[in-house]
Amino acid sequence: CGIIGYVGPESIDVTSILLDGLSKLEYRGYDSAGIAVLTAAGKLELHRRAGKIANLAASVSNGSRPGAGTLGIGHTRWATHGRPDDTNAHPHTDCSGTLSLVHNGIIENYVDLRQELIANGHVFQSETDTEVLAHLVEHTYFGEAQRDLPQALQIALKRVEGTYAIAVVSREQPDLLVGARHNGGPLIVGLGERENFLASDIPALLKHTRNIIVLEEGEIVELRPHSVVITDSAGSKVLRKPLAIDWDIEAAEKGGYSHFAIKEINEQPEALRRALLGRVHQGELRLPELDALRASGTLDNILRIVIVACGSSYHASLLAKYAIEKWTRIPVEAITASEFRYCEPIMGPDTLCVAVTQSGETLDTIVGVRQAREHGSPVIAITNVVASGITRLSDAVLYLHAGPEICVVSTKTFVNSVSVLYLLGLYLGQQNGQVQPEQMRKLLDEFERLPGQIQDILDKANAPDDIIAPLAQRMAQVRSMVFIGRGVGYPTALEGALKLKEISYIHAEGFPAGELKHGSIALLDPETPLIGIATASHVYDKIVSNIQEVRARDAHVIVVATEGDEKIKQHAHDVLYVPSALEAFSPLLATIPLQLFAYYVAVARGCNVDQPRNLAKSVTVE
Ligand code: G6P
Repeated sequence: CGIIGYVGPESIDVTSILLDGLSKLEYRGYDSAGIAVLTAAGKLELHRRAGKIANLAASVSNGSRPGAGTLGIGHTRWATHGRPDDTNAHPHTDCSGTLSLVHNGIIENYVDLRQELIANGHVFQSETDTEVLAHLVEHTYFGEAQRDLPQALQIALKRVEGTYAIAVVSREQPDLLVGARHNGGPLIVGLGERENFLASDIPALLKHTRNIIVLEEGEIVELRPHSVVITDSAGSKVLRKPLAIDWDIEAAEKGGYSHFAIKEINEQPEALRRALLGRVHQGELRLPELDALRASGTLDNILRIVIVACGSSYHASLLAKYAIEKWTRIPVEAITASEFRYCEPIMGPDTLCVAVTQSGETLDTIVGVRQAREHGSPVIAITNVVASGITRLSDAVLYLHAGPEICVVSTKTFVNSVSVLYLLGLYLGQQNGQVQPEQMRKLLDEFERLPGQIQDILDKANAPDDIIAPLAQRMAQVRSMVFIGRGVGYPTALEGALKLKEISYIHAEGFPAGELKHGSIALLDPETPLIGIATASHVYDKIVSNIQEVRARDAHVIVVATEGDEKIKQHAHDVLYVPSALEAFSPLLATIPLQLFAYYVAVARGCNVDQPRNLAKSVTVE
């Protein structure tokens, strides 16, 4: 979900500020949206609509638009409790209509609190856990806190079990916006001139300010037009230096492309160059971010590495397992974060935990990391978002430097996650003497060629005679597709299938090619096309055999292969060529045509590419 809040000195069109901010946060969830504006007349006007922000914008444009005001909050929702309808949309209000509140996260004891509040005379309008919060804060606001909003929130939150990022306003205090967070996703203060902002993510603030403060766990913030006061969970005032953000606004806009997805796919060469910048130079690898860990001797004692991640980040981790094991000879396990936590993981000081999360806020991953820390494991975070939640739980952070990624599905952050994981593997291999200087130079040279090679794939794909878009057009009506690969081709197949599922809603599965014959081959028929990853590798002949097994079942076969491989044409109906690369690096190239394929299929099917149904970019609930 996404939160936006504004407080300023004089009455202005707060509605526009909130709607614009929400539109930048829509990737976080788009089941419903709403705003509350405190107008100059002292009225707290509430507007909520199921569906996208466009629905909300339309509903406030035809006459019912809130008047000018000094204060407002807004929310775009990814539903957890209650259907995504108008009533369950945020903001929520209390019985007296004094307060208005928006919330990300889950209140776990909301059933008990709700019963208690009902017994105290509160009447509920919705099924959400958030409305319970609104009533709970009202209860303390008019009771113990004696109309002191920050205090009311502080007292109320002591009763709450679960996760939250909250923004709350009172119609009695037109110059005060209060926020609080506890694991429920990020909350970022934007420092303006004589006005201040609160938002779930940086792109929502860029239009107004580059100076931000990230709220930490358990903190409460009071924003007034001329001041920002942060208090920690113990009630002490916190002084925090603002961070200056160097993302430009254009990076968070579509810039002439029809979708963020295709813009971000095309940004991959530049994004990868940024990930390598300052880290790879003249055959040498430097990761100063890890210097402290190395100096403390922590990395010398690592016997095992566990990589924890979700979604595309998990697929990046599966790829890294192959490369890191090869370069370090240290056993690596890649595990999906939601399973890691509940499998009684065997962790300790000699097991390095690497957490990969482009948003830095995925709760499954955050919770997993906490557990790893409790067992004494050192933690390295790999993320794209400066000062995001995961960075505060880690001993060291490797940033992706991919720039803002707005499309819900990961493209450039996937490529950069794989790349940064690889850099980590090479660094550890250098440390433990498994990668010799000469080999390192060769590998880094290959690494530095990748952005140019990705550019070549994109240039070819953007040419009028390219085959990917027409092929996607032809495949757009299939019901199901199978992706296969071996070795590093296997996670590549998983990621290719996930991209297709996410944005085109076509059922797709990725399999290890050798495993297909042990059951899943039963899925194949002439109506089920197959995509095989058959780039040059030590298992090339094996994957070709597996592709032949499939072809014999009359399936339409598409193959991703290395340029110059003419032989493969006899086994495939369509071949998508990528430049030649070392085997470990080949997924970084093979992924690109798969992203483009998924994109063009989704466009051909008329899907909402940037905001696929049911998804959200950062899932801040377990
Ligand atoms: C969500 C997104 C996926 C993403 C996953 C992990 O489910 O829809 O596209 O891969 O979260 O996100 P993270 O920010 O942790 O990398």
